[in-house]
Amino acid sequence: MPQIRPLVAGNWKMNGLRAALSEVEALASTHPSPACDVLLCPPATLIGAMVDAAQGSPIQVGGQDCHAAQSGAHTGDIAAEMIADAGGTAVIVGHSERRADHAEDDAMVKAKAEAALRAGLLAVVCVGETEADRDAGRTLDVVLGQLAGSLPDGASAENTVIAYEPVWAIGTGRVPQISDIAQVHDALRGALTDRLSDGASVRLLYGGSVKPSNAAEIFAVENVNGGLVGGASLKAADFGGIIAVT
Ligand code: G3P
Repeated sequence: MPQIRPLVAGNWKMNGLRAALSEVEALASTHPSPACDVLLCPPATLIGAMVDAAQGSPIQVGGQDCHAAQSGAHTGDIAAEMIADAGGTAVIVGHSERRADHAEDDAMVKAKAEAALRAGLLAVVCVGETEADRDAGRTLDVVLGQLAGSLPDGASAENTVIAYEPVWAIGTGRVPQISDIAQVHDALRGALTDRLSDGASVRLLYGGSVKPSNAAEIFAVENVNGGLVGGASLKAADFGGIIAVT
């Protein structure tokens, strides 16, 4: 089994004004050499300022979404190239909130992930089942289907990360059984190994109500290579507590 450096990524969602950048400075000073890669994805308005705030620290900055096109008449959207131009190194695509709020399907997510690779960004591709899917016993079908449809052409362990986020666990304080997380991550690993020559090294993140008190148990699961954290990424103390368990 390859040695994989974990990634702990924070998704600020639609939270954060410039004053919140003090949290990034605090995180940088309290965790100068983490044992994992650290990524923060603020709203687009803060990407450039967060890059400046994180200067000289190991904290990488990314976007929460990008358009598939490089430029053009797409009011309100941003291109992957713009995230890179602002100093970002990654972008989340296919988050369940984008899939639900903006009717993004797998083909759209794949196109966005390919745009990320075109711009030289790390693509963080999200998959995850709803509670109805889970109750119907369809978790693996849904998640593997999303992976098959959303994985960008040209994906590799260097440029792509997969985040498994059960929709019902996001922001709810509910977390799947550890054995359920293990089962999904094993299935994702199997699919990636079948599809990519370096699929065994692609990082698989778990997301959904990760906090300092449960991160160690979750990150200890085989084939969990870090986390994608929402609410607990907003404060340096909480996010630092998660980084510290890696
Ligand atoms: O992308 C991260 C996210 O959806 C998980 O959110 O607040 O449950 O950690 P949260």
